[in-house]
Amino acid sequence: MDFVTLNNGLKMPQLGFGVWQVENDQATIAVKKALEVGYRSIDTAMIYQNEEGVGKAIRETEISREELFITTKVWNSDQGYENTLRAYEESLSRLGLDYVDLYLIHWPTPKFDQYVDTYKAMEKLYKDGRVKAIGVCNFEIEHLERLLNECEIKPVLNQVECHPFLAQNELKDFCAKHDIFVEAWSPLQQGGEVLKNETVQSIAKKHNKTTAQVVLRWHLQNDTIVIPKSVTPSRIEENFNVFDFELSAVEMDAINKLNRNERKGPKPSEFNVR
Ligand SMILES: NC(=O)c1ccc[n+]([C@@H]2O[C@H](COP(=O)([O-])OP(=O)(O)OC[C@H]3O[C@@H](n4cnc5c(N)ncnc54)[C@H](OP(=O)(O)O)[C@@H]3O)[C@@H](O)[C@H]2O)c1
Repeated sequence: MDFVTLNNGLKMPQLGFGVWQVENDQATIAVKKALEVGYRSIDTAMIYQNEEGVGKAIRETEISREELFITTKVWNSDQGYENTLRAYEESLSRLGLDYVDLYLIHWPTPKFDQYVDTYKAMEKLYKDGRVKAIGVCNFEIEHLERLLNECEIKPVLNQVECHPFLAQNELKDFCAKHDIFVEAWSPLQQGGEVLKNETVQSIAKKHNKTTAQVVLRWHLQNDTIVIPKSVTPSRIEENFNVFDFELSAVEMDAINKLNRNERKGPKPSEFNVR
């Protein structure tokens, strides 16, 4: 397992396990399998409605809490200073934990203009030692610029949709310049067309790896944090076995060229659902 060091000094596994669209009971089974395979970082959110299931897996593992890296997120309808403080306690209670490693704003929802207040509540949680790191999801450059201007503590990362068809080059450059990691959600394009792409297939064949492993390797070598999701035990294992090969500069370049700025999810600046 490779680790990255976040801008506040905290170490985070570069490969984690996502649990969006996994029901509570299934989340317990999937997270247990992931922990058994070697994952130590788990990405959930209040809106996934599986914090309890994730918490159960954490309680039932023999792996110490210090070795785990747990992320959850404040949902759009809980934004605002007081709401965020309350939402954090509620997430902890569902998870059965006394802290999470990383607390994130799930979407900026700019129409409601509350993400600065939300982030200030997260700064309080951080300063009070209640959470190890704070960050954001789905922030475009303009939202990050506002946080950097109006808040004290830099987000450690920005979790955004990212895969070979949506490389996020401009945002990655901005984040790198400000020492903010990019964490890729839907890193496998939700198991989509990218896994059948001819270029990716030919690279996979050369390394005797699967296309999913090649795509994850591409993320890792781009210094991106990745959190692939699977409920299939063999895929949970497959997605973890990406530390025993390396893509060449030519192969990285060939995958870089697949970018077509194509999203699976909404454009964050236009997503104002609560
Ligand atoms: N912050 C946000 O707004 C946001 C938004 C979306 C996601 N996320 C986070 O990012 C995580 C990952 O994103 P995601 O779940 O959208 O998509 P993903 O990880 O790109 O893809 C998951 C899909 O790919 C399939 N899959 C997984 N491994 C595979 C493999 N080796 N070969 C073929 N297919 C494979 C899975 O199927 P099976 O499960 O059936 O095996 C599932 O359908 C989420 O779980 C969540 O934690 C965050």
